[in-house]
Amino acid sequence: MMDRTKMLCVIWLCIFPMSDSKSIPIGMFRTECQDRHFWLAVRSNFLGYTFRFDVEGGHGVHTVTGPWAAECGYTTALDASGDLTLRASYLACHVKNQEDSELQLLVWFVNQGVHGEEASYPLLLTCQLQQPWNPREIVCEENYMEVSVLKPTPPDDQKGTEWMNPAPVSPEEGLSEWRVVFHVPVVSEEPGEAGAMREETVPVGMAHLLGYYINSTGSRILLRCPYGSRLSYPMQVNGIEVELVSATVLYKHQWTLLRVDTSVACATREAVLAETHIVWSFPQVLSPVVQLPVTRRRVRVGVEGQYLSSCMAQQWGYQIQEQEGTVEIRVPFGAKGGLLKSHVSDNEYSQSYFLDLFYLHEWEDAQWSLTQQRTFRPVSLRRQPQTPRVINNTVASEGAFSVALGVFPPDVSLVNVTIAGRTVSWSEGGGRLGLGLSHVPFPNGTHAYLLQAPFSHPLVSQRYLGDRHRRYTLSVIFSLLVSPEADLYHHPAMVETDLQDVELPRIEGQCTQRGVELQLHYGNVDADWTVYMGGQRLDWELMQLAGYSLVVKNDQFSMDVPLFSQGMTYEGLGMEGLLVSAQLSVVHSDTGEDITHRQHCVFPMYELLVCLPDGRVVVLIDTSEVFPPIDPKWTSLLNPSCRPLETNHTRALFSFTIESCGTVKILIDGQLHYINEVRYTPKYLSHKKPPSNHHLNFRIPVGCIHPANGTRTLSIFQPQNHTPSPATSRSRRLRSHSTEHWKQPFLTGERDRRTATRDVY
Ligand SMILES: *[C@@H]1O[C@H](CO)[C@@H](O)[C@H](O)[C@H]1NC(C)=O
Ligand SMILES: *[C@@H]1O[C@H](CO)[C@@H](O)[C@H](O)[C@H]1NC(C)=O
Ligand SMILES: *[C@@H]1O[C@H](CO)[C@@H](O)[C@H](O)[C@H]1NC(C)=O
Ligand SMILES: *[C@@H]1O[C@H](CO)[C@@H](O)[C@H](O)[C@H]1NC(C)=O
Ligand SMILES: *[C@@H]1O[C@H](CO)[C@@H](O)[C@H](O)[C@H]1NC(C)=O
Ligand SMILES: *[C@@H]1O[C@H](CO)[C@@H](O)[C@H](O)[C@H]1NC(C)=O
Repeated sequence: MMDRTKMLCVIWLCIFPMSDSKSIPIGMFRTECQDRHFWLAVRSNFLGYTFRFDVEGGHGVHTVTGPWAAECGYTTALDASGDLTLRASYLACHVKNQEDSELQLLVWFVNQGVHGEEASYPLLLTCQLQQPWNPREIVCEENYMEVSVLKPTPPDDQKGTEWMNPAPVSPEEGLSEWRVVFHVPVVSEEPGEAGAMREETVPVGMAHLLGYYINSTGSRILLRCPYGSRLSYPMQVNGIEVELVSATVLYKHQWTLLRVDTSVACATREAVLAETHIVWSFPQVLSPVVQLPVTRRRVRVGVEGQYLSSCMAQQWGYQIQEQEGTVEIRVPFGAKGGLLKSHVSDNEYSQSYFLDLFYLHEWEDAQWSLTQQRTFRPVSLRRQPQTPRVINNTVASEGAFSVALGVFPPDVSLVNVTIAGRTVSWSEGGGRLGLGLSHVPFPNGTHAYLLQAPFSHPLVSQRYLGDRHRRYTLSVIFSLLVSPEADLYHHPAMVETDLQDVELPRIEGQCTQRGVELQLHYGNVDADWTVYMGGQRLDWELMQLAGYSLVVKNDQFSMDVPLFSQGMTYEGLGMEGLLVSAQLSVVHSDTGEDITHRQHCVFPMYELLVCLPDGRVVVLIDTSEVFPPIDPKWTSLLNPSCRPLETNHTRALFSFTIESCGTVKILIDGQLHYINEVRYTPKYLSHKKPPSNHHLNFRIPVGCIHPANGTRTLSIFQPQNHTPSPATSRSRRLRSHSTEHWKQPFLTGERDRRTATRDVY
């Protein structure tokens, strides 16, 4: 795919009398025959303390350096990997040229040690021209401009065969008689006169002194000069900076004076980085050296002296765009063909990119049937900040996070990742921990790292958001190593996903014989829920104090709350018994969302007395064991008009306030005792016998004790002997007036005020 003409030879020339020449170490030199250049590279690790190239010429040895190198067609550089490179034009000074197609150059590579000791390595470069010379060829090197044109054929009538098949006469015969006419703009103070040109005709010898190398080979006439030489001038073509030398060479051939245009122009704009691409622009038509119309044009781009096929250019992302008279070569930063190098400093990641870029631009115009222009502009972009990208590949339905970090050149490798404080090394792989850690190579030579972690993984954090939504967060630090400096770079990444996958806690309740049983099913978000029993936070202390018994299972707990224990709420007393409720809640500490269950239960009661904080007294009386039987319908309080609220054959339910129904109030020790009693008070019917004494003995004391000036609380009293039995049944008749008959199953007064006011009424 590449137009690569392999190097032809590197020869150890032992005939040279240089005493300290060394034999050539294998692999330290690479040479290539490129289009119009010899190319030679010396490995960086072979370079001495100082080093140089010498070339062997007719009159001795020249060191390849400075203006001499530029005038003579040599370019040296240290490339991105530190290798020393030499590009020498096929038309360079001291190249042995056989008919412009067999080219040979003897180069000495000279290494110098710290103490000045030298070692020289002679290299004979031989190249065979692969592509024949074109009528005009322009080279825009880093340090010089070069144009070579076909020696014009003399007019038909004087055409000599020597021109077609050069005679074995020295080609530079008569060179000293040549003249060069330079066209230069007139430097004028008057703005109106801009654009005026003047001519300056100088002999070749004088041109040499001005830095111009002018010579001829078998078939070509050549002009070369460094940039910025005298008589060259800058201009703008289509907004792009161009340096131009406008020159005509005049020479005599036999009896004819011939003139040939050796003007040369090079676009000097450097490639720039525009966001993600390197952009290098030059004019479509290099107007100072073009005579319109241009009939055909072509641009080819290459790196390191090799052309890219359009297929490869496309694959590597290189583009050539032409618009509005400008050609733009666009190369993605870091693209193949160049060298990408990573750096870390202060945990900032950056990349340097080196690209040995060149292009060939060829065209046909009215003057030259074909012009080829080769332009070389190595690009060197140092330490461009390049924050690695975190790529979120997570697909919620797959139930796992998938996060990649990249893309990196080969000099970056992952050492370990740290998730929620836990470090997993790359060699460990993460598989043992249920994590996936993998390397993702890309076809363009870069790579990325991929981390996968199931949402349910313990190192993935979860947060409940309310309404059954949950946020999973994977927070990771990738630790990477940059070679060969062994610098560490840490890159944090965080990905999260919200799912409506929460199974909320669920509470169930049942009424049991002894009280209420409550079950809490935890659901699938266990963290951050607080449990409240009857409005009070459920903890061990409360459980112990209140006498709850707890059975804990994997996914739930169940708790027995005894009747009359703390946490039970009085709802009412009726004929059917005592109505109570127990309320269990779970409250999410972040969202405040609460899940509450209130279990209502009715407990059948034989007899019961309830003192309410509002001063009401509710009392249930049973008469089943009274002998002789009485009808509860005919019972009343001290005030006979206070009749039962409800009755059946054996029970009577009273409800009254302590300020009514003849209630007697006594202050004892700062407490007010409110005393009343249930009596048998049938309506007298004249024809009926009055009630017996027995019946008049039926008196059940009822009453409440409240603090004289404190807050009244709820209290519930049961008969001392509330389990009816035949033995005690008869004693009913002998009941005393004492309120001590009633035993308090729980005392609201002993309870925490806060909770008492909340759950008891
Ligand atoms: C011109 O080229 C010839 C042969 O290539 C060479 O011998 C001569 O030295 C060159 N002239 C100059 C001035 O370099
Ligand atoms: C290399 O390939 C990766 C993955 O396709 C891409 O993200 C990156 O931009 C490419 N790099 C260059 C310089 O083209
Ligand atoms: C993670 O890698 C870095 C770099 O090698 C190292 O300094 C650090 O100790 C590693 N951490 C663990 C826990 O292995
Ligand atoms: C990552 O991907 C998930 C799933 O597609 C998405 O919910 C989330 O918003 C993405 N972004 C981040 C920063 O986590
Ligand atoms: C009176 O009502 C209570 C509670 O509803 C019941 O248990 C009892 O059997 C009833 N008595 C009669 C005689 O119906
Ligand atoms: C209640 O009354 C007594 C005596 O009347 C008094 O000493 C006491 O401070 C009072 N307490 C309250 C809480 O008001």
